[in-house]
Amino acid sequence: VFIAYLIYNRSRLKQDSRLQQEVILQQDLATKAVLQAEEAERKRISGELHDGLGQLFSAVKMNLSALADHIQFEDDHGEKMFEKTMSLVDESCKEVRVISHQMAPNILLKSGLATAVRDFIDKLDDRKLKVNLSTFGLNERLDQNVEMVLYRVIQEAVNNVIKHAAANTLDIQLSKDEEGINVMIEDNGKGFDHNDLDEFEGIGLKNIRSRVEYLKGQVDFSSTQGAGTLVAIFIPL
Ligand SMILES: Nc1ncnc2c1ncn2[C@@H]1O[C@H](COP(=O)(O)OP(=O)(O)OP(=O)(O)O)[C@@H](O)[C@H]1O
Ligand SMILES: [Mg+2]
Repeated sequence: VFIAYLIYNRSRLKQDSRLQQEVILQQDLATKAVLQAEEAERKRISGELHDGLGQLFSAVKMNLSALADHIQFEDDHGEKMFEKTMSLVDESCKEVRVISHQMAPNILLKSGLATAVRDFIDKLDDRKLKVNLSTFGLNERLDQNVEMVLYRVIQEAVNNVIKHAAANTLDIQLSKDEEGINVMIEDNGKGFDHNDLDEFEGIGLKNIRSRVEYLKGQVDFSSTQGAGTLVAIFIPL
């Protein structure tokens, strides 16, 4: 009876672990589907912005500048207002372009993570925030999923620094060795209490966590009030 019980128990344990594996597999597939749907939707919105709003703004700009040749301004004020409006329209054109490129980063697909992050950083105003980016061992392309997830995660962490940290320096390190990929994003801003992510209304940090978990990686936030924030990510290969 004892032996029969042992055999029964072993086969039950085996079944349990098979069931667990199946659940994990299904969860992974679901996360993957959500991430892919998100990327597809971003690509769609990016296209609409670029081809719809972007073209409209360009047309407005063209018409306005054509109008300028026909208008007689009554005074200086009128002319100044017109010039201001022109430069607002010009800025809007550029903004739409930047947003649409950030939403669907072609450069990521074409040239890989390091180049895409560099490109994103180059567009920031370095008078307010000095960014140092260093990369090691990233000459070869990574898995497309890994690149996309890490790009989004870095984008969110950098946007958080811009939005919340009031920092003037940001260090980003991307490196790869035999074990995996390390990403460190460190600012010298005001820091925050990160112990309970669920307390925050925002979804940025929660998204970072779930994306990294999807890649079976690990993310650590370390931050002290007044002494900056470090986001450290490891993705095993
Ligand atoms: N680098 C940082 N420096 C200081 N505070 C930060 C930093 N990153 C995040 N925080 C704090 O953590 C909170 C939660 O961040 P999270 O990205 O989840 O949300 P959010 O940026 O406020 O909104 P969302 O990302 O949804 O647009 C922020 O509101 C901010 O108070
Ligand atoms: Mg955020």
